[in-house]
Amino acid sequence: MAADSDHLEEIPEEVAMLVSMLGNEHHAYWSNTYIKELNELSQAMADGNPDPMEKLFVWFGKMNMVYTANVIQGADLNIRHDAAILDVGCGNGFFCEVLHALGFTNIVGLDYSMEAINLANEVQSYFRKQKSDLQSWGTRYVCDDVLNTSLEKESFRLIHDSGTLDSIAMTVPDRGARGTLGGLHGQRSDSQDETGLESSGAIGYFRNIAALLEPGGFLLLKTCNHSLDEIQQLASSSSCGLAMCKGLIRRFRQWSQGRNHEES
Ligand SMILES: C[S@@+](CC[C@H](N)C(=O)[O-])C[C@H]1O[C@@H](n2cnc3c(N)ncnc32)[C@H](O)[C@@H]1O
Repeated sequence: MAADSDHLEEIPEEVAMLVSMLGNEHHAYWSNTYIKELNELSQAMADGNPDPMEKLFVWFGKMNMVYTANVIQGADLNIRHDAAILDVGCGNGFFCEVLHALGFTNIVGLDYSMEAINLANEVQSYFRKQKSDLQSWGTRYVCDDVLNTSLEKESFRLIHDSGTLDSIAMTVPDRGARGTLGGLHGQRSDSQDETGLESSGAIGYFRNIAALLEPGGFLLLKTCNHSLDEIQQLASSSSCGLAMCKGLIRRFRQWSQGRNHEES
């Protein structure tokens, strides 16, 4: 699908997003967003801006990504630096680059928007040049749809999602949405679907995530749309065994409430 949201230009950003998501123009919306972001980044670099990365927009904020990366590095999850990590819906790749900076060496960033992947590669080469780090391993960025993924032969110790399930779950069923109801094991559920979540692709999402995780692996999922109960329900409808790390969830909440206080 081509990036084509010119007709949204006159509408304020947040409204444009809702319109495009609910109209199943989500792919075009993201592609358009990343084209703009890459233009702004390139302009900032050309202007000699000492911190061109300030142009990157990160869904739950950059500090949230730094906190998350430190949690991954910490004792709770005990993730080795060479463990396979997947960032699903990586966008501009900021999170992968934070992980890389902490010493993680086996990272895949996946996004279904080619424009996101182009931007993420640009961000990665910026950081590499900054550190004269042109030789060593970097993040592998892959243009792929998590609902119909080509990574099916790979398995990951940890999968991170910041806002991608939210985007997928906003898809209106049966309106020609791209990538819904598919996936490794994704099939329409016959159960009643009062919330529309099942037919939105969320079930296919959980099935595919479960298939991509190695046994005992972790899904670190950040959502602004779903309660814990909904997540649990979606996971069980997808028949994937999901045990909640309640202690970690509590700590994330406390951290973000503390930050909201600081910022208000
Ligand atoms: C809310 S943005 C979050 C981006 C990034 N994770 C962040 O925290 O800034 C959601 C991202 O998911 C991607 N996305 C949405 N649906 C997807 C799908 N089915 N497969 C892969 N990526 C998808 C979008 O292109 C977008 O980059």
